[in-house]
Order: sequence, then structure tokens, then C-alpha cells
Amino acid sequence: MNIRMIAKLAASAALIAMTAGVAKAAEQVEVLHWWTSGGEAAALNVLKENLQKEGVAWKDMPVAGGAGSAAMTALRARVTAGDPPTAVQLLGFDLKDWAEMGVAANLDDLAQKEGWDKVIPAALQNFSKYNGHWIAAPVNIHSTNWLWINKAALDKAGGKVPTNIAELITLLDAFKGQGLTALAHGGVPWQDGTLWEAVVLSTGGPDFYKKAVLDLDPAALSGDTMKKVFDTMSKLRTYFDPNFSGREWNLSTALVIEGKAGAQEMGDWSKGEWLRANKKPGTDFVCIRFPGTQGSVLFNADQFMMFDVGKGQRDAQLKMASAVENPGFQIAFNTVKGSVPARTDVANDKFDDCGKKGMADLAEASSKGTLMGSLAHGYAQPAAIKEAMLDVITQHLNGQLTTEAALKRLPEAVKAAK
Ligand code: BGC
Repeated sequence: MNIRMIAKLAASAALIAMTAGVAKAAEQVEVLHWWTSGGEAAALNVLKENLQKEGVAWKDMPVAGGAGSAAMTALRARVTAGDPPTAVQLLGFDLKDWAEMGVAANLDDLAQKEGWDKVIPAALQNFSKYNGHWIAAPVNIHSTNWLWINKAALDKAGGKVPTNIAELITLLDAFKGQGLTALAHGGVPWQDGTLWEAVVLSTGGPDFYKKAVLDLDPAALSGDTMKKVFDTMSKLRTYFDPNFSGREWNLSTALVIEGKAGAQEMGDWSKGEWLRANKKPGTDFVCIRFPGTQGSVLFNADQFMMFDVGKGQRDAQLKMASAVENPGFQIAFNTVKGSVPARTDVANDKFDDCGKKGMADLAEASSKGTLMGSLAHGYAQPAAIKEAMLDVITQHLNGQLTTEAALKRLPEAVKAAK
């Protein structure tokens, strides 16, 4: 072979490599999300790896901060600059807000081919579709009215799980007596709201939750039952540790895992941290519905909204949406994440006891009409109203508003935000 031939071969090899490189670069999804804790990242890895196996590269855009408020700020900047990511983790009413701006991709063809209409519950489809068109691929269903208890501390306290707020207080007193932080809580608005909504459900039951949180009835927002809710919040506040302010949820979970705290009220993403620490439900920790809320489920579902990013990324985007709805992925992801599948046709046998309970509770609540959207996680009210309510809840919990003032302020704040 002479020099010229070698040069020619080398050039074509380079061209092939370049073309392959270009083709590979085109098969990429850029994904904005807030799954940065250990359990969350482990779950997301399942999706990354599945896509990589299909030749789709993953460009990660993580924005730390539970419940995604920092992620929403980052997204606004990208959309305003006319450069949205391929897919974005979104919750509830935020999906509608973005779709209204005309920036959503249309997933109808894929959804029809794969029969999403038949397997995704209506409560989710209300948010995955805009004007009747699929714009998002639902990943999971989480719920917020859970209590996660350190099993050793519970056993030491007599082993009985609390079934109402009075019994919860008794248990928290016992944890205090053991020298523990009784209730691990991080003082940020969405966590305050997560605790508050569980207390609302426990105190007034599902009908009261509907009236106050979903229908925003001013009398329910300021009446006697709501007074009990705020009084309970003040009482629960006395079981936090002095460093609670501003703490991320997973660090509070870690306190319970390490046996420094007794319990945490938190959505079932908390289980992802327990599993990541090699802890087993029933042995190391106990999962129960927040005392007094068995029979009702406050849900939030993570969805990947697909943005209109043009033809170049369309194939990769559709591969990602399809990978998310794959039943095998729904099992592999949700068993790690702590959530339950977004599809109703997935068997429960690969799930642990908490996961099985989550699936059974969801089916029961859905058939009884007690499956309701979480306020703190965007499934009860649009962002403006949610933020206004969380403001009052946080100020009250921090002692900046008395209960009387909070009862007056809550309906006013809602009215002003409408
Ligand atoms: C999301 C979960 C996430 C949690 C904490 C919730 O709003 O739905 O997927 O794990 O926030 O970051």
C-alpha cells in the first residue's frame, strides 16, 4: 500500500468516525431534574442506562432542591433564552403552566401506539395531557401522607404504631425520652407544607381536605378544624431539633436511618434513602400512613414533560418517552425510588412491603374517591396559590404568625393569589 492510499484510507476512516460521532450526538437527550439525593440518583441511573443501551446519550442537568422550586427557576431561564432542555421533571399544575406557553412537544402518536390512555390513571392524565394532547410521560406515583419510623426506637417505645395524632404525640414523647430528636424535619416551605397537608388530612378527614385544600373554601381555611391543624403544627414543632431550619429532606431521613431521630413525616421518596443505606422495611424501618390518614392518599406524580426542541432531537425524545412507559422500567425505577408505577397494569411482586402497601392504598383511595392531589407538590393548586399558602404555613411554624393570625391570613392569601 502506498502513502497516498494510506492517506486516503485514513481520511475515509476519519470521515466515518466523524459521521458516527454526528449521528451519536444527535441521539441525545438533555434532562432537567432535581433528583440529586442518593436514592433519587440511583433511580435515575436506571433510565440513563436503559437509554444508553439504545444509543441515546444523556446530558444531565440536575438542579438540587426537593420539590423542584430551584429547578423551575433554572427552567424559566432556559425557556426564556429559547433553548429548552429535551425533557423536564415536572409536577401537576406546573405542567399546565408550561404547556400554556406553547413550548410542549406532542406525544400523541407514541401514546396511541403504546396504548397509554388505557394504562395511565385518569388522575395523572389530567396533567400529562394539555387540550387533549399528550405532552408528558408520567414516571411514577408518589404520595406524601407517610410516616417513616426507626424500628429499633419504635420497639424500645413499646412497638405500637400510632393511628391518630394523640398516639403520635405519645410516641414522640417516648422518642424524646430516649434522648432522640423525636421528629426529623427540615424547615423549608415545601417540607412544612408536606407535614401540614398530612395534618390537615388527619385532623379533618378527606372531605375536609377537599373543602379546604382543593376547593379553597374560606370557612374551612379559617374555621375550628383548621385551628386544630395549626395548633398541632405548633405542637409538632416542639419535637424538631434545633438545626432543622433549611435542612434538606434527605438529611433528615439520614437522622432517622442513623438512629439519631425517631421518625420523619415525608413522601415515599424517603424510602429510596433507606434502601440506598441497605435498610429493610419491617426490620430496620416501619412505613405507615401518617397517623389518622389510612384510607386516603395525597399523591404527586413525577412526569417528564417533553419540550418542543425541533426535529434534530425528536427521535431521542420519543425513545426516552417510550423508555419511561416501559413496564419493566416502571418496576426497575420505582422499586429503587420508593414510588409506585404510573401504570395500572404492573404486577406488585417485585415491590417490598411498603411498595405493595403503596399500590394497595392507591387502588383503594382511587376507588373510594379519597385519592387527592398534594398541595406541597403541585397537584392541588397552581403555583401562585400553593406558594401563598406555603408562606402562611411556614411563617406560622416559625412562630412569625400566631394561630389566630394564620387563620385570618390563609384565606386572605389565597384570595389575593387567585
Ligand atoms: C418529587 C420526588 C422527589 C422529592 C424530593 C418531589 O416533589 O416528586 O420525586 O424525590 O420531591 O426531591
